[in-house]
Amino acid sequence: MKRTLFPLLAVLALAACGQQENPSAATRTEAAAPASPPPAPEAAAPAADMLKSGEAVYKQVCLACHASGVAGAPKAGEPGGWAALAGEGQAAVTAHGWVGIRGMPPKGGRADLSLEEFARATAWMARSAGVDWPDPDAAMLEAIRKEEALRREALKQR
Ligand code: HEC
Repeated sequence: MKRTLFPLLAVLALAACGQQENPSAATRTEAAAPASPPPAPEAAAPAADMLKSGEAVYKQVCLACHASGVAGAPKAGEPGGWAALAGEGQAAVTAHGWVGIRGMPPKGGRADLSLEEFARATAWMARSAGVDWPDPDAAMLEAIRKEEALRREALKQR
């Protein structure tokens, strides 16, 4: 009997502690809030480590279409579409998505995304589907820019 009661008591004790701590924690944050206004939005270009991760961008922007495959979007987590793209190479595929292609709006419809964040999201989706594309480094970003220029030229000539 003791053996079964002990864990239960421990859980109850923890729950009780939580209840005691929460209100005071809330009071502290409330009290501190007016004293510290939010920082002014004067910051210049974000440092590299402030960029969103590929997964974060995917969840905020790309998931809307790439989770279910809206309009033929290659699905995250499913090798099918991405295996076909893998042969085209990371730079070209990222650039084509960035510029926009058929049902894929430029930048996924988010004008405020940086190329690096977009490229990270593309690489993250590819990895989720078993295609081993790393987050872009400087050389990859340059290669993507080159592909972007080629793509824009080709689109002009149509
Ligand atoms: C409004 C829906 C939509 C959103 C949002 C969206 N995509 Fe897409 N995406 C598509 C569709 C549809 C395709 C397939 C286009 C085709 O090949 O016909 C596609 C294709 C792509 C491709 C492959 C390009 C190629 O070469 O075929 C990449 C890369 C891509 N998307 C990246 C992204 C990323 C990264 C995001 C988020 C930042 C995103 N997409 C958000 C609809 C979307």
